[in-house]
Amino acid sequence: MQTKKIPLDITKATTSRLAEVDFDNLVFGKYYTDHMMVCDYENGKWNTPKIIPYGPLSVEPSCKAFHYGQAIFEGMKAFKDENGKVWLFRPEENFNRANISCKRMAMPEFPKEYFFEALETLLKLDEAWIKTGDGNSLYIRPFVIASENGVSASPSSTYKFIIICCPAKAYYSSPVKVTIAQKYSRSADGGVGYAKAAGNYGASFYPTNLAKEKGYQQVIWTDASTHQYLEEAGTMNVFFRINNTLITAPTSDRILDGITRKSLIKLAQDQGLQVEIRRITVSELVDAAKNGSLKEMFGAGTAATIAPIEGFEYNGDYYELPEVKDSYSQHLKKSLQDIQYNRAEDKFGWRHEVPLDK
Ligand code: COI
Repeated sequence: MQTKKIPLDITKATTSRLAEVDFDNLVFGKYYTDHMMVCDYENGKWNTPKIIPYGPLSVEPSCKAFHYGQAIFEGMKAFKDENGKVWLFRPEENFNRANISCKRMAMPEFPKEYFFEALETLLKLDEAWIKTGDGNSLYIRPFVIASENGVSASPSSTYKFIIICCPAKAYYSSPVKVTIAQKYSRSADGGVGYAKAAGNYGASFYPTNLAKEKGYQQVIWTDASTHQYLEEAGTMNVFFRINNTLITAPTSDRILDGITRKSLIKLAQDQGLQVEIRRITVSELVDAAKNGSLKEMFGAGTAATIAPIEGFEYNGDYYELPEVKDSYSQHLKKSLQDIQYNRAEDKFGWRHEVPLDK
């Protein structure tokens, strides 16, 4: 991908915090790399992006992001192959989705050439934080917040586009137990479910806490009006394998257009697996669990990649999934990671090499 070269203001960190990080016991989201990107939107335009040492922001208490939740984010990953080359996975998809989210939250869109120039420069500076080896990656968190001071309920006139990065390993260490939402909802028709709006996640914490109190790590979200249709799993899209068919809900204004989701659909179809993108009801799932045709359930998202689900609760009954040999989830995860880590042919053009010699 060719983007126009644009100037950046770069202030390098004088010391690195890399030696403080225990890479063998990484906690997701705990350690951030030495640098971050901050770009301010003022007077109707984005200023020159700044790369500066990672550190606190100075904002006033009346900052609109705090009061009205005008905030969106993205999640993406960089991988290092055995030859030390660094790869992003489908970064244009994240860039496009960030702008879709911004539009829905009445925030200005970000220019593509700023995004790629700033991100590549940041990754080049903090390249030593990206470790080789299966499961190791750098989680990249671009986000946009309203930055105007003032509590009038109207869109901000100023914003900050920021990128921070943290080294990551597996998000979930073992399969998760989930409960199916019967009361609370993650999103509704005409709402912001398709956007990566910060508030979608904040609003899910309370029902997820209730689920955790009952021993379930995540909630399977259902449609808000009937609670009959299965839509997402926690912070991820969700897949079901009934017999040998992989089923996932179509995206809508309630469901995030997940990049892992669409990559898995493409890989599964390419490998000749039967894939159905259709609505699936709770009763179909319960029937399949009862008659033994439900073989697998898994969440799919950038942070976790694929999170296998070992069982689900509905109406007070718990349904445990069988142990399957040659699971689709393991197989698809391997296919996806082989592309991400540059171990396999990239026939769909998903990898984006980060130039380390710029
Ligand atoms: C993702 O996996 O894409 C996410 O958004 C997870 C994040 C909320 C930690």
